[in-house]
Amino acid sequence: MDIVSLADLKQVAKEKIPSDLWDFIEGAAFDEITKRRNEEKFLDLTINPNFLIDVGNRDLSTTVFGEKIDFPVMIAPAGAKRQLHPEGELAAAKGAGMAGTLYALPTASGYSIEEVAEVASGPLWFQLYHSSDDITEYLVKKAKNAGYSAICLTVDGPTSAPKEKDLRNNFKRNPELYNGSFRERPEFVRSTDIIAPDFADFTPEEYQGLTWDRLDWLKSLTNLPLVIKGIRTVRDAVLCTEYGADGIVVSNHGGRQIDRTLSSIETLYPITQAVGGKLEVYFDSGVRRGSDVFMALALGARGIFIGRPTFWGMAYDGPAGVKLMLDILKSEFDRCLAFGGYRNLSEIEVGSVNIPAHWPVKLP
Ligand SMILES: Cc1cc2nc3c(=O)[nH]c(=O)nc-3n(C[C@H](O)[C@H](O)[C@H](O)COP(=O)(O)O)c2cc1C
Repeated sequence: MDIVSLADLKQVAKEKIPSDLWDFIEGAAFDEITKRRNEEKFLDLTINPNFLIDVGNRDLSTTVFGEKIDFPVMIAPAGAKRQLHPEGELAAAKGAGMAGTLYALPTASGYSIEEVAEVASGPLWFQLYHSSDDITEYLVKKAKNAGYSAICLTVDGPTSAPKEKDLRNNFKRNPELYNGSFRERPEFVRSTDIIAPDFADFTPEEYQGLTWDRLDWLKSLTNLPLVIKGIRTVRDAVLCTEYGADGIVVSNHGGRQIDRTLSSIETLYPITQAVGGKLEVYFDSGVRRGSDVFMALALGARGIFIGRPTFWGMAYDGPAGVKLMLDILKSEFDRCLAFGGYRNLSEIEVGSVNIPAHWPVKLP
């Protein structure tokens, strides 16, 4: 089968991935309503095309904290890659670099921060789950020394979020495939004796260690930009500006943490209206087409991250499959620019799309 869309890639990947691992990757919280909503709400948006414009020379590139990427699509941090493919995070980093974009390495990586840096040819972010001060200090220092460009703190996992499919399947992670950065410090490896643990699984007590008023401590560990991932409300976005974050990722974790929230795309425009210009705003959850990328940029995102489709590409063909997935999105996005009458990203604005009247214009 020729792969021409991410939907094709998904179909082929599903045949290759063991069903319990497929469920883990595809799964989301409870009834998976937010996960579905993430994709469905993109369909409410429509594009306004403009013609008789010279779009012969299109520039899809942008910058992320000053670093150039060839197009505004990046790979989201997501654990389980080494359980899926022997090259795991190395494959994702290679594929992102080959496509000319950025890879965000998760804390729960089968390969170490340094091993991934060695094979990457594009920029890297390090995604941090905070569980204790000494582990965070250790990880942030490693990321800084290995040349990562930003620390991306994921904040939307205050407690355990086992997925029902994983409980039914009795799905177990192999700890060796998730703790590559802890090989020299095995005492830092979190307990994996619960069913289907996720690296975002904290007890509320553990999470107490990091709150808004302690972000200055985190910032004091490094001069790298600090990005907060998992923002869903204007309130939290404004707090990010007040507490000195350099960027945010508007994200609901692909619906994996809490069900029955708004889709991520519905929350984007109110947030960029409130804080756009004060920090760099990125977006993820539900992007499956270049037109989705276009919509998110029109609503104020500087770039977007891709979660599950990275696994599909990797299952299909390792690093080359990740590149293929990104290339498909790039060419679809490029077509949106050409047919929309845009030569570069700065020309895309909110009037480029129609937002339905029933969407929330204000968020708490
Ligand atoms: C299998 C899997 C593991 C994930 N692990 C992490 C993680 O370790 N850290 C994190 O910040 N987000 C994690 N995420 C969430 C992604 O970074 C991203 O927010 C989400 O996948 C975007 O939604 P999408 O899958 O619809 O593109 C994970 C997602 C999946 C599918």
